[in-house]
Amino acid sequence: MQRTPVVVLVSGGGTNLQALIEAASDPACGFRIVGVGADRHGIEGLRRAEGAGIPTFVVAVGDHPDREAWDVALTEAVAGFEPELVVSAGFMKILGEHFLARFSGRVVNTHPALLPSFPGAHGVRDALAHGVRVTGCTAHLVDGGVDTGPIIDQRAVLVREDDTEDTLHERIKVEEREMLVDLVEAMSAHGWRVDGRVVRVGAGSPGGRA
Ligand code: GRF
Repeated sequence: MQRTPVVVLVSGGGTNLQALIEAASDPACGFRIVGVGADRHGIEGLRRAEGAGIPTFVVAVGDHPDREAWDVALTEAVAGFEPELVVSAGFMKILGEHFLARFSGRVVNTHPALLPSFPGAHGVRDALAHGVRVTGCTAHLVDGGVDTGPIIDQRAVLVREDDTEDTLHERIKVEEREMLVDLVEAMSAHGWRVDGRVVRVGAGSPGGRA
């Protein structure tokens, strides 16, 4: 079986990455993580990858003259692994034009709210402040906007009276990890197709888009 090569991008703790690493450790899994990239050094996500023997790389904005140069450098670093799928799992940077031109249609992002509600860096805080009773997580294909791309999957999480941003985010992340593993596995095994804004997993060629 040809396993779909996946690059994962992280900026922090990397528990979503860890869930993907654990899934991929099963030889029957349809994908393998060929590289893990970050926009900063010294994060737990990189340590998790190193612990699993996965090559890592860091492309930091501050190491480049401007955002465009960073975009080009990140694109080249990821392209070196020849991934079929790129997963942004808690990567806290907006991917640039150059990156999306290269990997358009095969970059998956996970967001801790039910999009299109509460996009941006504070999805959990914003949902809580708005007083919603149900929130959750969304996996979507990345386009040029902030959390605006076609939705692949969502999971709902009930908000509790005594929730703080942290307690709610932790419960969302339980769902998020499971959602992400399931969809990366399904996209790898069965492919996907995009009809307008609708993503149909299982309707492409295995390991890739229709
Ligand atoms: C996730 O909730 C992700 O959606 C958000 O940041 C969190 C990352 O968690 N953008 P982790 O680093 O995978 O633990």
